[in-house]
Amino acid sequence: MSENPEPGRRNPRDRASEHWQAEQEVLGPGLQAVMLWSELCVEEASGAVLTDMDGNRILDLQGAGGVNSIGHANPRLVDALTTEITTAPAGAFGSRARRDMTNSLRRVLPGDLDRIQLYSGGAEAVEAALRLAKSVTGKHEFLSFWGGFHGKTAGSLALTAGARAKLGPLPPGYFSAPYANCYRCPFKLKPASCGFACVDHARSVIKENSTGSLAAIVVEPVQGRSGNVVPPPGYLSALKGLAEEFDALLIVDEMMTGFGRTGSMFAFTQDDVEPDIVTVGKGMGGGYPVTGVIASAETMSASPFSDPSASSSSFGAFPMACRAVAVVTDALVEGDLPAHAAKLGTEMLAALAPLAEEAPLVGDVRGLGLAIGIELVADKQTREPVGKDIVRKAFLALMEAGVLVMVGGNSLRLYPPLNIDTEQAHQAVDLIRRTLIDLPAGGA
Ligand SMILES: Cc1ncc(COP(=O)(O)O)c(C=O)c1O
Repeated sequence: MSENPEPGRRNPRDRASEHWQAEQEVLGPGLQAVMLWSELCVEEASGAVLTDMDGNRILDLQGAGGVNSIGHANPRLVDALTTEITTAPAGAFGSRARRDMTNSLRRVLPGDLDRIQLYSGGAEAVEAALRLAKSVTGKHEFLSFWGGFHGKTAGSLALTAGARAKLGPLPPGYFSAPYANCYRCPFKLKPASCGFACVDHARSVIKENSTGSLAAIVVEPVQGRSGNVVPPPGYLSALKGLAEEFDALLIVDEMMTGFGRTGSMFAFTQDDVEPDIVTVGKGMGGGYPVTGVIASAETMSASPFSDPSASSSSFGAFPMACRAVAVVTDALVEGDLPAHAAKLGTEMLAALAPLAEEAPLVGDVRGLGLAIGIELVADKQTREPVGKDIVRKAFLALMEAGVLVMVGGNSLRLYPPLNIDTEQAHQAVDLIRRTLIDLPAGGA
């Protein structure tokens, strides 16, 4: 086996194959598609680069699904977590780590949204946000959006589009409306002149379905799983107005977008709106599993959410989690990484955008900051989505070329670390461009 400084498959997958098979003898099925397709076995992860067990290097723009915010094995995070686990990993008591985290978060929590409650999984935080909205409003219905993803537990699955066959019955009182996905506008309108017909339609959905108990509208500021769909400016504000019409709250799910990913610490601040509740996770821990619910002190004081033990979880605010959040937040602020994400994201998007003309399979390229989506279509006129087999072929071709991406539906999604260096990012863009331009319709 030789060490290869350049990304791309150079060595045969001898070790990785054997390793992968041995693991599968014990693991259950149903892991993420990209994990199963790639059969990637990681020997070493550093910054934006993964090295597999056969010495192949790959530029990691999958980033553990957006988790990798400050680079794999970031020395500052590794040192801090190593110290923490050998010092006081005693539970969610007061700790130096928690104090450091609260001090760090004071620098970034926006406006009145200055309280956070911690959890360890994304769906868990979304469920907590639903409980909080019920506590505040005394109501129990929720509106979410086509193409959205919020998790796989009962309430979060009911908010999530698709992925529900054979999993019913879902809880009652959950309805959905089209997202502002202008590439696939169900009303066949253009963003400049549509007057947010999708928001008007959402109003009708509520009126037709609600029993008068709408607790909240739940929305992603950029829809991740649909391929980082970016709604037009003013969309979140329009939804906030809609929520207010029904005396309901606006929950913005920033699991993917929060902590700098889209070029600002929180994506919603780019739309000049103050949500009532924000859910965060992924990049916030830089690889350590930690998520959270953010709201104002007044919102969070609602009972029963605020009752003792009513909003806690076993691992919420463990010292390790707090230390990870403190280190990541400080790194984002000190390195001005949201601004780096905004600048580099704009450059990457500009370089990738021509693929919609040049690459046979690419229908649309969009993104905000370092959340970029490339939608694959079978027909550029009708915009018919490609099937999973083509997405898989594109994913594997990119991996072969040396770039690991995330997928979602018929889209490829890019989530480089927010501190990726410019040269590495452009190298990845070049590899993606060359690979997709060469990939014929049909993906053969
Ligand atoms: C916007 C959003 N919300 C919630 C979740 C659920 O997170 P988890 O997979 O940690 O339960 C995800 C996961 O990708 C997400 O993207």
